[in-house]
Amino acid sequence: MPEIYKVNGKEFIPFIKASEIAEATSRLAARINSDYAGKTPVFMLVLKGSIFFGADLLRLINLDCELVTISAKSYGSRMQSSGEVNLGLFDENIEDKDVIIIEDIIDSGLTLKKIYQSLETQMPASIEIVTLLSKPQMKKTDIRVKYVGMEIEPKFVIGYGLDYAEKGRQLPAIYVLDE
Ligand code: PRP
Repeated sequence: MPEIYKVNGKEFIPFIKASEIAEATSRLAARINSDYAGKTPVFMLVLKGSIFFGADLLRLINLDCELVTISAKSYGSRMQSSGEVNLGLFDENIEDKDVIIIEDIIDSGLTLKKIYQSLETQMPASIEIVTLLSKPQMKKTDIRVKYVGMEIEPKFVIGYGLDYAEKGRQLPAIYVLDE
């Protein structure tokens, strides 16, 4: 694993180890397995950032479940959420189903709010959210997040699916901007 990862002249340094990510993911999976025992939830993975977390989380889920993906884009190549969220479409029927949205990180919460509102119109039985990371100080919405892996300070992070200008997603751990 690199000690410093550079993107567009900016330097990122190690922040959360792969082993810590794995432990948090395992804790979350255990809670979901217990809370949804006997149910058949639909996991809705928010592209692209959640690919790594979602893949690792789902391999620990022992429920009879489905996987749906939805694309959402808010950052562009900047380091702050633009506030405008572009949501893709999905054609699976989620009426009367228990939906669990999988996010890599919640920053302002605007992406989740838009997804949540869009899903609500399709009358699922329930909607919950699981996220690996959350920045509580940045939250601008009232969306309740039941499953949070780790709370972090409002710093810009990449790796394990998260990007800066589409770079850094492949890093096996989380890196933070060296300010
Ligand atoms: C990131 C991240 C979340 C969202 C969080 O996605 O994956 O979906 O931003 O920010 P928010 O809480 O302020 O809305 P991004 O728009 O960068 O797309 P990506 O997942 O394809 O990188």
